[in-house]
Amino acid sequence: MSELIQIGAQNQRPKPPKRDELELKFSEQAAKELDALRTHYPEEKACVLPALWIAQREYGGYLSGEAIAEVALRLNRSYAEIEGVATFYSMYNTAHRPGRHKIEVCTCLSCHVCGAYRIWDHLRAKLGIGHGETTEDGVFTLEEVECLDACDRAPVLQVGDRYIGPVTEADVDRLLDELRANPNSTVIQMANEIVKTQVSGPEWQAVHGG
Ligand code: FES
Repeated sequence: MSELIQIGAQNQRPKPPKRDELELKFSEQAAKELDALRTHYPEEKACVLPALWIAQREYGGYLSGEAIAEVALRLNRSYAEIEGVATFYSMYNTAHRPGRHKIEVCTCLSCHVCGAYRIWDHLRAKLGIGHGETTEDGVFTLEEVECLDACDRAPVLQVGDRYIGPVTEADVDRLLDELRANPNSTVIQMANEIVKTQVSGPEWQAVHGG
């Protein structure tokens, strides 16, 4: 079995940077997106979730302590408040930096009944990793998750913003080949799609042009 990138416990918390060492990394466009989003809400506190999606995209798919601190600074909130939100929702990657593609396998009741553990075991065997681990080449992260709210397609997987189901072992093999050939991170793509949805069409055009 290949060596794995060792990952800490799922509830490992990102380490906050020292305030005077914080280097802001939002691009100019990201800062403009956040400014546009601020106008959607009566107060900055309400803007935390979209701001975290922008940060997740800008920091390469992972909310490090620096990413959380930058959101806190830009929204005039405390680090603890933003970290509390970021670590509550499983869609934000705070425990570890995911691989280029994160494959989430639902093993909740409907998917379980329809063979989710056959798919889970197949993926673990093919990738040589378990829950919350990333392959040595950094391409895949595997996670077992609760109901993805697509029970009619059980057993179902999520990769980036795609739900795929019902899946068989042969579908999984095809999916892995397809993802290996895709140089773009589906983790970052998903964050970008969510930001795009939250910033309205005219605002997106004003920030990005075209
Ligand atoms: S049980 Fe798997 S999507 Fe609901």
